[in-house]
Amino acid sequence: MLELTHTTKTHDESRQGEALDMVPTGQSTGRKLYIESYGCQMNFSDSEIVASILIEKGFETTKDYKEADVVFINTCSIRENAEQRVRNRLKEFESAKAKNPGMVVGVLGCMAERLKAKFLEEEKLVDVVVGPDAYRDLPNLIDQADEGGRAVNVLLSREETYADISPVRLNSNGISAFISIMRGCDNMCSFCVVPFTRGRERSRDVESIVKEAQDLYNAGYKEVTLLGQNVDSYKYTPKSEEGEAEKSTINFAQLLALVAEVSPDLRIRFSTSHPKDITDEVLYTMARYENICNYIHLPVQSGNSRVLELMNRTYDREWYINRIEAIRRIIPECGISTDVITGFCTETEEEHQETLSMMEYVKYDYAYMFAYSERPGTLAAKRYEDDIPEEVKKRRLTEVVDLQRAHSLYRIENFVGKVQKVLIEGTSKRSDKDFCGRNDQNTMVVFPVDERFKIGDYVNVLGESCTSATLIGRIID
Ligand code: SAH
Ligand code: SF4
Ligand code: F3S
Repeated sequence: MLELTHTTKTHDESRQGEALDMVPTGQSTGRKLYIESYGCQMNFSDSEIVASILIEKGFETTKDYKEADVVFINTCSIRENAEQRVRNRLKEFESAKAKNPGMVVGVLGCMAERLKAKFLEEEKLVDVVVGPDAYRDLPNLIDQADEGGRAVNVLLSREETYADISPVRLNSNGISAFISIMRGCDNMCSFCVVPFTRGRERSRDVESIVKEAQDLYNAGYKEVTLLGQNVDSYKYTPKSEEGEAEKSTINFAQLLALVAEVSPDLRIRFSTSHPKDITDEVLYTMARYENICNYIHLPVQSGNSRVLELMNRTYDREWYINRIEAIRRIIPECGISTDVITGFCTETEEEHQETLSMMEYVKYDYAYMFAYSERPGTLAAKRYEDDIPEEVKKRRLTEVVDLQRAHSLYRIENFVGKVQKVLIEGTSKRSDKDFCGRNDQNTMVVFPVDERFKIGDYVNVLGESCTSATLIGRIID
């Protein structure tokens, strides 16, 4: 699991507690904002929008919550432990607030949306509760809190995409950035809280996405990751001017091509693909553009068709295998990662074995693996009993994790002895004598610093050895 904010690994809702960096401001009022994000990349991306809205109002950001006037925590509800982490963190803010009673503490994001005003009853320290579609209202809500009130806005929207807000790139390496292309989710996977916390799916307008990619490229960025819960269902019809012919709808494959055309030097990644919606057109577009990375995050969740049906994933084992075959056929070198849930309601030992055999079949480059956690209000919570004992869920999870480790190693070993094109993202966490970056397939590569190259350059790296997580090599001319 990754801890870097600038990473381009696909969604990682385990990331926790990253504070935003100091940024230059316009007309500062001297008030300080501290914001910490949990959950998936969408949340990290939203925090950049929140910071942008408040910097516009004269705030400066700080990395130290103790000196902040406004402390925000952007939260995740995906599993129970994600929420527990947030509650623990709120406890740590208590003493800072005791010392500075004027401090405004706000809960943003998915947990705010899920718990709404109840949050104010449960957590006495919290002054404002704001859902993911209400961030434009933040200056107003902070004003209410400053006047001694407590404020809530958890209205979900069918239109809000924050398209016109240019996110401040915080904690950035200046090389990789996220671009949200859509919000919400219209799928109703029975285990999942996201449709309830993020609302209906809506796509952001295509011009603003391409412009954001172009602006990032002009500012020296070399990699953008397009974000959505289900990017394959992106769909946007540009509005036609009066008297103009009706414009045709842009789908995800077309959007990918438009972003790829910004520059052959700008790498494009995206997340998350849904097995039911990923089309051959998307795969052919990936194959056509060298700068669209050969990497797909395609969450399987389970390898068994009965469990997939209970999960309401709307595909079965055969369909998923068919999509993997299409990827291997159209993009032979493609890296593939996945998400797996163990111990979903009524999952038998044989059905769990089918998840393992699916993993054996695909040999994923990487996987995010979770024990099922029942979420209040979801279809599964209403319909099925959470009947797999915790120790069974955990044991199955261990089996999945162990198998994945072997597969990650198998995939990385395949890069040893071969030359990889790597975008230098920074110096390695372990040593500033090493650079790190990713190859096309999203594998982390570490290699000695070479004075001739700098962060943001593409280099050819010969893989020389590896662990199950990292390829180690050296730059070759
Ligand atoms: N939109 C993405 C997933 C977003 S949530 C998709 O459709 O694939 C990220 C991952 O968290 C999911 O893929 C799933 O594996 C996991 N997850 C979601 N709800 C969960 C729950 N209730 N218990 C355990 N894992 C869960
Ligand atoms: Fe959740 Fe399913 Fe939507 Fe992904 S596609 S966010 S798992 S409901
Ligand atoms: Fe993301 Fe967690 Fe919300 S995974 S969409 S922050 S529930």
